[in-house]
Amino acid sequence: MEKCLKLLSLKKNNPIAPILLQKAVDLLRAGELVAFPTETVYGLGADATNDRAVAKIFATKGRPQFNPLIVHVDSVAMAQRYAVWNAWAEALALAFCPAPLTMILPKLPDSAISHLCCAGGDTVGIRIPNHKDARELIRRSGLPLAAPSANRSGRISPTSAQDVWEELGDSIPLILDGGNCQIGIESTVIDVSGKVPCILRHGFITQSQIEAVLQQPLAKPVLVEGEYKSPGLLTSHYAPTLPLRLNVTHCEANEGLLAFGTPVVKGAGVMLNLSESSNLQEAAAHLFGYLRKLDANPQLKGISVMPIPQEGIGMAINDRLQRAATR
Ligand code: TXA
Ligand code: MG
Repeated sequence: MEKCLKLLSLKKNNPIAPILLQKAVDLLRAGELVAFPTETVYGLGADATNDRAVAKIFATKGRPQFNPLIVHVDSVAMAQRYAVWNAWAEALALAFCPAPLTMILPKLPDSAISHLCCAGGDTVGIRIPNHKDARELIRRSGLPLAAPSANRSGRISPTSAQDVWEELGDSIPLILDGGNCQIGIESTVIDVSGKVPCILRHGFITQSQIEAVLQQPLAKPVLVEGEYKSPGLLTSHYAPTLPLRLNVTHCEANEGLLAFGTPVVKGAGVMLNLSESSNLQEAAAHLFGYLRKLDANPQLKGISVMPIPQEGIGMAINDRLQRAATR
């Protein structure tokens, strides 16, 4: 494997140069992996129709089980080549797409998507990212891209090219640098393949927004043989190395504080504030990067987190924090 090219753009959020996109296209067509930016987090991309390329994703991430991967497409027309499009998908696409939203749909019987990508199941997760370069990469390659978050399995999702470099720099040939991810938290996953739609993972697009579009209440995710249908619902996930305490009202001397709004907690030596103005979107954008920073501080023995309001994207933030705190 050629040495990993770290490609720095001159300014944050600069569009990626066409020559680099072309390099990425060549690698993807050759069955290689390319990390690329999306509006949520960086993805570790591969040709979703190529079993071997998809297998490389699992090997590189060290993903213990073959959890299904999201397939990224550039349009509804492209989605319809692989999935059975239904009225719910149509309504959600009209209302939101391109968007930080993944729809689980029945897989078309003759769908070219790799079985491994769908973990052998009969559904496929489809997402049209709201990121120009991500869509341009798909358009130029003509490939649906399987892309989980570009981190080692169970670790914090990367929101910058630097994060990807630290996670996977040695094992992938190319990281496209599009600056910091705008949203910073993974897409909402909604299952629209069953009798009643249900959210499998909370994200930027909220349950109430979806219910308003679909004009019906969503179902609760069901347990199948003791497991949730989506491995994204695993209790322990997004784990930093340091232990996490949530909803804190005080902070130990050797803990780093992840604050939100006015830091009421006294005594924190190291503090990062998710949003001084209590803005939940800003907090989501900072969440993973700040967790990484605190986790990397050798002076700390733990991370304490102030309460985050359980509303809007705060639900997704709390969901990720709960999983990060569970070990
Ligand atoms: O924002 C995102 O969604 C990012 C960016 C890169 O697009 N991707 C991402 O992928 O977070 P990943 O693999 O880390 O999470 C995908 C989630 C997993 O929880 C997986 O179990 C679920 O989606 N998923 C994918 N396909 C599924 C399917 N067919 N049925 C049920 N769950 C599925
Ligand atoms: Mg992930």
